Amino acid sequence: MANDQRAAAHPIPRFPADFLWGVSTSAHQIEGAVAEREPSVWDVFTAEPGRVKDGSTAAVACDHVRRHGEDVALLAGLGVNAYRFSVSWPRVNAPGGLDFYDRLVDELLAAGVRPVPTLFHWDLPATLDWMERDTASRFAEYASVVVDRLGDRVTKWITLNEPAEHTLLGHALGTHAPGKQLLFDALPAAHHQLLGHGLAVQALRAAGAADIGIANSHGPTWPASQEPADLEAAAFYDLLLNRLFAEPLLLGAYPEGIGELMPGDVAADLKIIGEPLDWYGVNYYAPTRVGAPQGTEIEFGGITMPAELPFSVREIEGVPVTDFGWPVVPEGLTELLTTFKDRYGDRLPPVVITENGCSYEGLDDQARIAYLDGHLRALHRALEAGVDVRGYFVWSLLDNFEWAEGYARRFGLVHVDFATQARTPKASYAWLRDVLQAQG
Ligand code: NOJ
Repeated sequence: MANDQRAAAHPIPRFPADFLWGVSTSAHQIEGAVAEREPSVWDVFTAEPGRVKDGSTAAVACDHVRRHGEDVALLAGLGVNAYRFSVSWPRVNAPGGLDFYDRLVDELLAAGVRPVPTLFHWDLPATLDWMERDTASRFAEYASVVVDRLGDRVTKWITLNEPAEHTLLGHALGTHAPGKQLLFDALPAAHHQLLGHGLAVQALRAAGAADIGIANSHGPTWPASQEPADLEAAAFYDLLLNRLFAEPLLLGAYPEGIGELMPGDVAADLKIIGEPLDWYGVNYYAPTRVGAPQGTEIEFGGITMPAELPFSVREIEGVPVTDFGWPVVPEGLTELLTTFKDRYGDRLPPVVITENGCSYEGLDDQARIAYLDGHLRALHRALEAGVDVRGYFVWSLLDNFEWAEGYARRFGLVHVDFATQARTPKASYAWLRDVLQAQG
């Protein structure tokens, strides 16, 4: 195979011996078995006509709750030493709901794969609302229930997944559940998620957990030009994506001008939110080119951005794009991590890439191999530049329910035929297996 020759000619540089190598999934996107749990905001949202592009729902998804044995075997065959999945809060609320995760954790450990659960990956119980402060306390109570049951075997924890996207898409723009279109009035949802994170960290630590992180999405923001209006718009976008959810955690403070917009006793809350983390998770997909607002609605990466936003997202020219239309810029990962290290210095704990991946059709997914190959090399350059990187997780093990895009976007190393639930490893699965074998 051409790819084997290339891999042999240019092996991926060696990562540290104790590096975490994993793949990621999330509950709502793979589990199915909706009748065995409470409804989530995503169930309510997808039931509304027009919300999901192909009209699909995650009622069955990858039927993972029934097929977990097969999926753990796929993880073992891949040779990863870690698996990031999410625990469904609405499932934990249902009688016996934790039994599933209990079994899954045992199966993972038996297969030599370290379980790395995320406590919240967007599937909020339908009765709750992040606009309400009380949801933060409820989240911490739920975290206690999960750690009490799994904490004897699970040692590495993730509180939230991408609160930035959950705020922006779910509460500001309304293209994700719960479908609120509050624009900047959505900021309380951000604050309450961060507070929920801080309270959950306290709950996990009280139960003895000592290796806690978060998965935040970040990417370099590239201004459309050096014109002041473009620079200002890009700086604002950078604040929203790269600072608003990082600085309360890393510095115990909101970027200037933001704290005043948040509800409650923000100074007291920041003490809870800013408790030092054991590690910091980064989900990286691509940089964003940003310019001054253009006064019109813009369609970008599947999202409609209203004209009233103080920035506009532009195309990055001269780079390949995935089948989802997202730019492929591996060096953006090096840039992102070295920028974070420059910005936050010793306040930045060890970093784990908690998601990186791409959507392409087909089983012979050479483009995905090229994407992952490029990003691993870029990650290694960040290591060489002195960033303390401890792990890398590919999004995703399986093709799955890609939120408002339905099943049309395929991020998996393993193809799923959603009519039969047949799993077929793609070329990228074999490629990653060989990379991991070579890493030892
Ligand atoms: C980020 C999210 O965490 C995940 O749920 C999603 O499927 C991937 N990115 C791809 O969009």
